[in-house]
Order: sequence, then structure tokens, then C-alpha cells
Amino acid sequence: MQNPTDIQGISLESLAKTFGTPLYVYDGEKIFSQVKTLQNSFSAVPLKIKYATKALSNLSILKLIKKAGAGMDAVSIEEVRLGLLAGFSPEEIMYTPSGVGFEEIQEAVKIGMMVNLDSIPLMEQFGAEYGKSVAACIRINPHILAGGNLKISTGHSESKFGISIELLPKILETVDKFGVNIVGLHIHTGSDILDAEVFLKGGNVLFEAAMKFPNLKFLDFGGGFKVAYKPNDVATDIAEVGKKVGEAFQEFCKKYGRQLELWIEPGKYLVSESGYLLVKTNVVKDSTSITFAGVDSGLNHLIRPMMYDAYHEVYNLSNPFGTKKKYNVVGYICETDTIAANREMNEIKRGDLLVIKNAGAYGYSMSSNYNSRLRPAEVLIWEGKSHLIRKREEFEDLIRHQVVIEF
Ligand code: LLP
Repeated sequence: MQNPTDIQGISLESLAKTFGTPLYVYDGEKIFSQVKTLQNSFSAVPLKIKYATKALSNLSILKLIKKAGAGMDAVSIEEVRLGLLAGFSPEEIMYTPSGVGFEEIQEAVKIGMMVNLDSIPLMEQFGAEYGKSVAACIRINPHILAGGNLKISTGHSESKFGISIELLPKILETVDKFGVNIVGLHIHTGSDILDAEVFLKGGNVLFEAAMKFPNLKFLDFGGGFKVAYKPNDVATDIAEVGKKVGEAFQEFCKKYGRQLELWIEPGKYLVSESGYLLVKTNVVKDSTSITFAGVDSGLNHLIRPMMYDAYHEVYNLSNPFGTKKKYNVVGYICETDTIAANREMNEIKRGDLLVIKNAGAYGYSMSSNYNSRLRPAEVLIWEGKSHLIRKREEFEDLIRHQVVIEF
């Protein structure tokens, strides 16, 4: 992974000057080409990509993803609304909520999208309300423990997500009782999954369950492809996954005479590497054993390092050839919001611009106003031009919905 000084010929430094810092910058070509790589890797099967909107839900990004030929997976009715605003048709949206109120399900059905049912009680409620009249999908928990860390592992037996594969008889009973029209089966095992074998294992669970559902139109393998966060990290070999999963899928369809689509729901794979968070160094200070570089951002803009001990590569844009020193890059929040610990970087001075890589997925979308700080602006680079796709928040945004009472 190189450390870019520009994106599509536009220097990161000039972007920081024009739009200020902290600033999220996304490389639209990268997002587009990730969609294309996925499509090519699974070209042997009828593939539908349902982008996991939660990774980065800016409307312009959603429009770009639609332009590249993907649909979307939404986990809240608000994400559904964003998708519709971005121009997705209801049929292109999969709705995969977890434990939401039934009103949200009703709203999604009314709009006309596929709903992914993730509990037996929800299946019952759905069946009682709609019977056969509305087609639906079932989210199965495959009991597979995989993923970068336990917090992002969603397919194991103790995870809250989906309906345990062990409950398949009960699922079938519920389908029979209410006549629910199940046209899709879904799993999502977790995030940061390197190994093609995990996707194959998940596939086997889907295939086994699919034998019991004669009316299926698709099998959804979820997302979770690993991207390279560390310099020597290995990413999921998408070509290998596409080939192996594609072959197993074709074999299943052929053997049992099924005509199915294969759906996947990547988030990180599509947007992580496209994103850079540009920050400015406010202070460089020494302690006895550590030098801190304090920047104008923190866990309020990128919570992954604190929440998951996630590693994000950081480099000094202002000093590409300087001597190396070790730093803890830390945020300005009143918490220990270490962004990068004990990192060898080119010497940092006050005012230097640092770039945090892999900030596209679960960066802005997990940001907050903690410490009453404002969220950054977002800029998309597309066809060699920079586009402001979200303005920096202003103080008024913080107080807009507050109702102040007098004492
Ligand atoms: N489908 C479903 C149903 C999901 O719950 C998720 C992610 C995805 C697809 C996309 O997974 P991806 O391809 O992005 O790995 N905030 C964490 C990741 C949590 C992901 C939650 N679900 C992080 O920053 O690592």
C-alpha cells in the first residue's frame, strides 16, 4: 500500500487547504473499481451486490454505488429512506434489521422491499400480518465463529443475529403454520473474514437449509471480506472467493435443479480503502518514553481504534522524507483516544497534516458529537474533480434540536 499525496491528481494538501481539516476524502474511482472487481470475480453466477449501507451512507456515495451497478442492504428504515432518495428502487434494497419494532417492518413492506426476518417471533408476526401475500427472506445464524474480533463476529451461536440453524425445524413449522412465502435465505458471518473456506462453510449451511425451501429465488452470503489495514496485511482474495463460492453454488443449483441468484453484502470491501481522514497536528509533546502527536480529530470522528483496537495506517503528508521517530497519534477528545500507538513516522511538527488511511468504512458513519465537537466535511473525488458531498457541521447543528427551558 503506498501513501498517496494526491487522489486522481488532486493533492491532499490542496484539499485540506480548500475544505479545512479534519476532512473525510473519498476516491470515487476506487469505490467504482471495487464494485467492478466483485462483479468480475463472481461473473460465473447471477450475482447481486447489496452494498452494506451502514459502512458509509452519504447520498452521493450511494448514488455512485448505484451507478456502478450494485443494490443496497439497509439495516434501518432511515437507511431505506436514504437509499430511495439516492435513486434505488425498492426492489434493489434488502432490508436487514435486527430487533426493530414491527412498524418499521410494515413501512418497508409498504414501500415494497425484501425484508430479512431475523427471529421466530418476527416470522410469526410477519406471517400473521401478511400470510403468503408478501415474499420474505430469513436470516439464519450459521453457528460459525469467524471475523476480525468478537465484536464484529455475527454468525456464532452466542450472537444476537439471525435465527439459529439448530432451529431449522421450528423455522419450517412457522413457515407452514403461517404460509410465509420465503424466497431468500441469508447469513452474515462477520467482518474482516480472510478465508474463502469460511464463505464456503457458510454456503454449506445455506445449501442445506435451501433443500427445505422450494420457492427460493436467492441465497445471500452476507458481507465481511477483509481489507488490508496494516502495511503487510493480506486481504481476502476476492477472485478465489468468487471462484470457489461460485463453483459450489453452481454445483448446488445444477445438482438440485435450482435457479437461484447469489447475493453478497460487502461494506468494507467497497468503501474502506477509498477513504482518507485528513487531520492537522495541534501539538507535539514528549513524555518520558512517548512522544504524542495530538490532532484535530479523535474518537468522535473515527471510533474504530478505540472500539475494536483497530489498526489504521497514519502518515505524515507534510514531511514525506523526514527522519523517523516513534509517536502515539492521539485525538483531542477528553478520553484516551489513541488513533495509532507506538508508530514509526516521519518527524511530526505542529501544523503538519497527517493522513489516516482506510477511513472510508465505518468512519463517518460511526461518528458522533462527543465533547460537543462538530463532524467533519466529506469530499468525493470523481473524474479528477473534488466535490463537497457533505458540509462541515456548524455550532447551530449542535443546538438545533435542543429545547431550552428557563429556570
Ligand atoms: N451484511 C450485514 C447484515 C452486516 O451486518 C454487515 C456488517 C455487512 C453486511 C457488511 O460487513 P462488511 O463487509 O463491512 O464487513 N463497525 C465494524 C464492522 C461492523 C459490521 C456490522 N455489520 C467495523 O468498523 O469493523
